[in-house]
Amino acid sequence: MSDLKTVLGEAVEAAFAAEGVPAELARVTPSDRPDLADFQSNGALAAAKRVGKNPREIATAVAERLKSDPRLASVEIAGPGFINLKLTDAALADRANAVAADPRTGAETLAEPRKVIVDYGGPNVAKPMHVGHLRASIIGESIKRIYRFRGDTVVGDAHFGDWGYQMGLLIGAVCDENPEIAALVDQLNATGDVADEIPDAFRAVTLADLDRLYPLAAAKGKEDLTYRDRARKLTADLQAHKPGCYVLWRQFRAVTQVALERDFHALGVDFDWWKGESDADPLIPEMVAELDAKGLLVDDQGARIVRVAREGDKRELPPLLVVSSEGSAMYGTTDLATILDRKRAFGPDLVIYCVDQRQADHFEIVFRAAYLAGYAAEGQLEHIGFGTMNGPDGKPFKTREGGVLKLNDLIEMTRGKARERLHEAGLGENLPESEFEEIASKVAVAALKFADLQNFRGTSYVFDLDRFTSFEGKTGPYLLYQAVRVKSLLRKAETEGAAAGPVTVAEPAERDLVLTLDAFETALAEAYDKKAPNALAEHAYRLSQAFSKFYAACPILVAAPPVRGSRLTLAAAVLRQLETALDLLGIAVPERM
Ligand code: ARG
Repeated sequence: MSDLKTVLGEAVEAAFAAEGVPAELARVTPSDRPDLADFQSNGALAAAKRVGKNPREIATAVAERLKSDPRLASVEIAGPGFINLKLTDAALADRANAVAADPRTGAETLAEPRKVIVDYGGPNVAKPMHVGHLRASIIGESIKRIYRFRGDTVVGDAHFGDWGYQMGLLIGAVCDENPEIAALVDQLNATGDVADEIPDAFRAVTLADLDRLYPLAAAKGKEDLTYRDRARKLTADLQAHKPGCYVLWRQFRAVTQVALERDFHALGVDFDWWKGESDADPLIPEMVAELDAKGLLVDDQGARIVRVAREGDKRELPPLLVVSSEGSAMYGTTDLATILDRKRAFGPDLVIYCVDQRQADHFEIVFRAAYLAGYAAEGQLEHIGFGTMNGPDGKPFKTREGGVLKLNDLIEMTRGKARERLHEAGLGENLPESEFEEIASKVAVAALKFADLQNFRGTSYVFDLDRFTSFEGKTGPYLLYQAVRVKSLLRKAETEGAAAGPVTVAEPAERDLVLTLDAFETALAEAYDKKAPNALAEHAYRLSQAFSKFYAACPILVAAPPVRGSRLTLAAAVLRQLETALDLLGIAVPERM
């Protein structure tokens, strides 16, 4: 069953057509004046210009036809020709019953599902994750869930940064510090033996070592040209699969992955593919040959590039650097090869790259090269950029010590604040320690994710833990609290033996609640079409507010059985829809708090 907006849209279209005015103008939207009407159509104004009639005249004729619709309690003309529609209580009750009976609470699925890859998270081996990765993870996870819920077949891929210059830097830095490792790298490189098992000497390298060494090596590489050149050489050796470098690199990747899985898990983020840049490496030789055969590869001072500038470009786009003068594959090389890899492995209709807005040019260049190479059709690759999470100084968020933020620290810090907030609110106090901890984790994740997703992704926002974790206002914890309240109400009804029954609608707060439940489909469609989870965040918030008003105005458990049954059905539908919407944002609701 379609949502009310669609159903009314069809009715108004039919009335337009019957009056000989273009039906496609008959758009129905929620009313700007909820006190007067539920929905409105402004189509008569546009139609008037087209057919050269007075808009009020058209609106009146259309309204006359609509008046016989049994679902409409009133049809009125306002202003220059707006048509105001008010539904009968019975029509609202019908819709409420359909939503309540539907496991998807009124959300439609696509007629033509597609195969979609969401490339998000994008953490790097050894380099700590920064706020860009945090936002990529939060937004990407939500987009993945929204697309899947809508009916697409979706794969989420982490696309690890594990094959670039930072790997050469680290191999060098680890060897400098540990002569035993350096000797073993040389020995394996010379003998050409790839160890199946990572040797113990390499296994001693921990993530803490990498975290400690990377910033030092990166800084040194910027100042010291010899150091930088050696790192580049080691990167090329790694990419050539020289066994010493390659096996040591496997250790780097393994220790990083364990930590990343833990952090992502704590954040409620999960990938179907934990692939990385290195997974595209085997395809590079063949890709380079193919680009060459297609005449796309150009020699440029020892490097090999693909020119992607187009006639009419407003700015000059640099070419794609495919092979560096040292013979290394670059960031863009692995990205292009990954497109080929994904095409073969999955054949996606669409790949969504959820990555920091600052990489917009990088993706434009890679996408153009992919279209030229025939690895994807124009429009199948889409970069979804986003702004930054800033500190109070308006610059990308940093730790108090001024360093880059580590995801793990951020989660710990937020969890600490969540515990404090729960105590302040007197919540979860009588629960067992382990359950309290689980609740604190969920509150922390809800706080971080909702604060991020309630803004359109392009907007930057300021990190404000006090506000994010508050149980009041437009926050994740507030929404969890509302959902838990409904859960406890429904539990109470069950212990009292109060049964749910068919919905009837009478009170204004009931009408409002049903109209809000009905708007889920619109919110989901917008989130999907615009890749904008904030539409669902907004819906979740409105639904909670509508429920709050309903709860205050309409007694539930003390009402007479038919009314009580109706209100319990409404409450159960609200809970299911709220949990669904929050789940699409990547937020899980505790049982109690
Ligand atoms: N690892 C990259 C970075 O830290 C992000 C990867 C984004 N995805 C991609 N296909 N390039 O900036």
